[in-house]
Amino acid sequence: MDEIIDQVSKLATTADRAARRHLIASLRKLADSLEDPIGTIHRYGHIDLEKAMIQVGLDLGILKYLAEADGSRTVDDVAKVAGADPALIRRILRYYSTINIVNEVSQGMYVGTNIAKNLNEEVTVAALGHYYGIVSGQYQATPAYLKKIGYKNPTDETHTAFHEGWKTRVHPFQWMSEHPEQLAHFHKYMALRRQAELSWLTVYPVLEETKGLSDPERALYVNVGGGIGHQCAQFRERYPEIPGRVILQDLPATIEQALPTPGVENMAHDFFQPQPVKGAKLYFMRGVPHNHPPHKVKILFANIKAAMAPDSVLLVDETVLPDTGVGFVAASIDLTMLGAFASMERTETEWRELAESVGLELVKTYPYNLIDNECVMDIRLPKSV
Ligand SMILES: C[S@@+](CC[C@H](N)C(=O)[O-])C[C@H]1O[C@@H](n2cnc3c(N)ncnc32)[C@H](O)[C@@H]1O
Repeated sequence: MDEIIDQVSKLATTADRAARRHLIASLRKLADSLEDPIGTIHRYGHIDLEKAMIQVGLDLGILKYLAEADGSRTVDDVAKVAGADPALIRRILRYYSTINIVNEVSQGMYVGTNIAKNLNEEVTVAALGHYYGIVSGQYQATPAYLKKIGYKNPTDETHTAFHEGWKTRVHPFQWMSEHPEQLAHFHKYMALRRQAELSWLTVYPVLEETKGLSDPERALYVNVGGGIGHQCAQFRERYPEIPGRVILQDLPATIEQALPTPGVENMAHDFFQPQPVKGAKLYFMRGVPHNHPPHKVKILFANIKAAMAPDSVLLVDETVLPDTGVGFVAASIDLTMLGAFASMERTETEWRELAESVGLELVKTYPYNLIDNECVMDIRLPKSV
């Protein structure tokens, strides 16, 4: 048995990202298939404890200390850094070793694992700040919410599990605007969550599409709902020579936190209002329409359509669900969208139908992250218009 596990571990160290993801899914499936009822009880029964104790580790700086330590540390070392009772820290570290955040190398001596390092990454801290700070409340409220609405597929963005969980009537983005710390976590997570090589810029023929543009006053790239502007900065950096304005648009509270990138205009704009930048070459949105149910996406698309010139392109950078075999991440985000916004992840057919419903045409889909089904869709005015 140990020999087989050793072989799999060796294989894993040389596997690429896709192969590793496949291996993890296969090993989890195998582990689950071996589980008895008591195992299942403890796995789900203690699921919230993992989150809670990770939060304690983040609050106390234990995870940072263990992630950055070069080698093992004693309970007392950790307790000193945390400024906490060694008897408490001992119990926390003992638990961490059971969920593979640390390895217990000898009695009272622990070393951080790759999970401790992952938990200490800036993107993870921001993401967990978001998930623990907001999304957990929504998840908790989901069963009662679905029961209340008679198990219909939600379509009303003004009444979701988020609203039930947080006892509010305001839209989640409005709610975050009123909670700047949460807004900051969210935007940091959005900005940092993809590695540079996982970008629409790696697959879309920007130079070809923008060939012949010469008017520096024409908008070249408008990033609608662009967060704090990381993508605008990347675009300007990659294509400094293409003439035209690069514009970031988002809600006012987000624009207040936006990066001051030279050559990028930061503009407060609500995309449910008419698009003020007319005739841009590229209108771009990443992870934006998936936050909205179909009747709202139609308004969003129609507002951009009304501003488009005949050669404008609407680029929609989103998850495009496969018809079968949807993975854990996409399926989880789909249900998270349901709970927050009465929204959803969509298949290519659903994206195409949405575009067509406002008189636009999905011309081509460019996948750039096959593992997580992320693509950029090229959507245009029909040729005859
Ligand atoms: C999921 S985030 C994606 C952010 C960014 N595009 C990215 O990929 O990192 C959705 C963005 O839409 C913005 N947003 C939501 N409602 C909006 C509205 N009505 N008008 C403009 N922006 C809005 C949010 O503030 C947020 O930045």
